[in-house]
Amino acid sequence: MGKEKYLNLVDYYDVESPEASEFRRLLHNLNGLKSPQNKRSIMITSSMVSEGKSLISSFLAMTAARHKGRKTLLIDFDLRRPTIHRLFGLSREKGIAEVLLDGAAVRTVVKQTALEKLDILTAGRHLENPSDIINGPAIHKLLEELKFYYELILIDTSPVVPVSDPLILMDEVDGVLLVVKAGSTPRGVITRTTGLLARQKEKVLGVVVNNLTHSLPYYYDYSYYGYNYSPTKE
Ligand SMILES: Nc1ncnc2c1ncn2[C@@H]1O[C@H](COP(=O)(O)OP(=O)(O)O)[C@@H](O)[C@H]1O
Ligand SMILES: [Mg+2]
Repeated sequence: MGKEKYLNLVDYYDVESPEASEFRRLLHNLNGLKSPQNKRSIMITSSMVSEGKSLISSFLAMTAARHKGRKTLLIDFDLRRPTIHRLFGLSREKGIAEVLLDGAAVRTVVKQTALEKLDILTAGRHLENPSDIINGPAIHKLLEELKFYYELILIDTSPVVPVSDPLILMDEVDGVLLVVKAGSTPRGVITRTTGLLARQKEKVLGVVVNNLTHSLPYYYDYSYYGYNYSPTKE
């Protein structure tokens, strides 16, 4: 793992920020689900690109690792447009591609982060046809092995409308979080997505609405209240 880190989301994670508080709330809601111990692998998807899947997966992973002290693994399974390695200042290789194609031992390619309880499995080398490695039984076996080491496995994926990979992944995970970018994703597209996910609707844990303050009335905005719950120095 090189030292050439230019950006690392961990440095931007402020536990006192309103965003961090929202992520604790989200995690709390996930823990409050029926049998949360059976929801250890959770994939994060959306209808389209740029709805905030990668950012939300990353913040949720940091929150779990820091706030709950749970040994957490974040996997970049968006093999078409992987971004997790960049968000954490890591190299893209080696990762999922090497594990599923070359049989690399997953323990040898997992990367550590500045957070003791957070590890990352990056996408790995560029593939011309990522769908070829989306193989249900192999992924199932991999996730079972990872559950041995991690209490929570968060999986960032491709969007479901243009690509079929996430629907195949859905068969292998315990739960799915759907990210919807408020004020931008057309209603018809969301309907199409919920239709696609309905095949296993018992796995859908909920919807995370991103970008709310830009589409809701002012009284939903933290700044309207004139404080953000951060402790003052005095
Ligand atoms: N709530 C938000 N506020 C500001 N920028 C955001 C927010 N959510 C996402 N972004 C930015 O939008 C872009 C797309 O987000 P990303 O997480 O990469 O989406 P996806 O993984 O769904 O394609 C990124 O540049 C990200 O930093
Ligand atoms: Mg992404």
